[in-house]
Amino acid sequence: MKLMSRAQLPGCVLALRFLALVLPGIPGARALDNGLAMTPTMGWLHWERFMCNTDCQEDPDSCVSEKLFMQMAELMDSDGWKDVGYEYLCIDDCWMAPQRDSEGRLQADPKRFPGGIRRLADYVHSKGLKLGIYADVGRQTCAGFPGSYGYYDIDAETFAEWGVDLLKFDGCYCDSLEHLANGYKYMSLALNRTGRSIVYSCEWPLYMWPFHKPNYTEVREYCNHWRNCADIYDAWQSVKSVLDWTSSNQERIVGVAGPGGWNDPDMLVIGNFGLSWDQQITQMALWAIMAAPLFMSNDLRQISPQAKALLQDKDVIAINQDPLGKQGYRLRKEDNIEVWERPLSDLAWAVAMVNLQEIGGPRSHTISVASLGRGLACLPDCLITELLPVKRKLGFYEWTSSLKTRINPTGTVLLRLDRTS
Ligand code: GLA
Repeated sequence: MKLMSRAQLPGCVLALRFLALVLPGIPGARALDNGLAMTPTMGWLHWERFMCNTDCQEDPDSCVSEKLFMQMAELMDSDGWKDVGYEYLCIDDCWMAPQRDSEGRLQADPKRFPGGIRRLADYVHSKGLKLGIYADVGRQTCAGFPGSYGYYDIDAETFAEWGVDLLKFDGCYCDSLEHLANGYKYMSLALNRTGRSIVYSCEWPLYMWPFHKPNYTEVREYCNHWRNCADIYDAWQSVKSVLDWTSSNQERIVGVAGPGGWNDPDMLVIGNFGLSWDQQITQMALWAIMAAPLFMSNDLRQISPQAKALLQDKDVIAINQDPLGKQGYRLRKEDNIEVWERPLSDLAWAVAMVNLQEIGGPRSHTISVASLGRGLACLPDCLITELLPVKRKLGFYEWTSSLKTRINPTGTVLLRLDRTS
């Protein structure tokens, strides 16, 4: 589709409304054609919270073992997580035995996964959930377990036979950029050849960035989502740096996201130790604006009711999962307040205002609604609902009105703007 330049935009409102739907562009690139991830994938991934803890002697409740995943599966089913959309229970690094078997197949560590992955997958499926697994395009995984290099077909077939539904494919220990690119592409095709529906979660751009700018059109053709920036950890500094990276690179990455292929800013760390309440709200709100895959990495056996309610907030999840599938972007940054917005279906918009000032108390911020949604969100008027930190209707706003909010330090006010006519 050829897009008009802004100078050519016709003045009439109808045309503007139409253009609001197509700018900044329907993803130009074809998505990986496996019919999966039509909205961002939702689930749970063990890495940030449980890392490479293999010591089941010392730490039987937190080591990477089938017991841990079975407990999480049970809770995802019984505690409402599955009902709001968290569907993929995902194993990260450190599940493998140190060696392949005599036929060259990957095998799970026999002590920590005595039933093997097939049986774990059956259990996870019996709970109405899907199972994700982890492997690496290089010679070893990042934690030093067997890599898939030289074994792409056999590994894809093994995962399909086990009943795996998602593969997180890491990029450690590659010898060259060619190896990296060819390996990611090859594995995508190998997964497709198995005939099983397997979401393909890549880290290809992250490992490419130090050498040259990724070709996102190509990445999107092979992957359902892709990591761009450094691993997240349980601290505001980390969440902030993901947001900084995303806004600094938005011209390059926002337009490419859409049904079938998403930018992945890494796991939700809500419900852990390092983020204040306001910072947890910021992560949830901005991951919704960014159309990010929502992989929680926390302990569902011990999570506060407050964090649980935030992660299960249906209105915020609806923004993340909006079927239009357009990623939001940072609209402006002024005096340490950032305004982000995301176009939604039915001409609605989500708007997030983040207060990045870490000194002082809540700050007032006034915006003219005409500046939102490319001037169209409230034309001629709209209903504004605050979703976070508190759900409440703020009422009807005309195009000429201003909206005044108060935002806590490092917190976010998330709004939904629905057209009234
Ligand atoms: C890399 C990835 C992380 C995690 C670890 C596991 O650092 O980016 O998400 O998978 O490897 O070793």
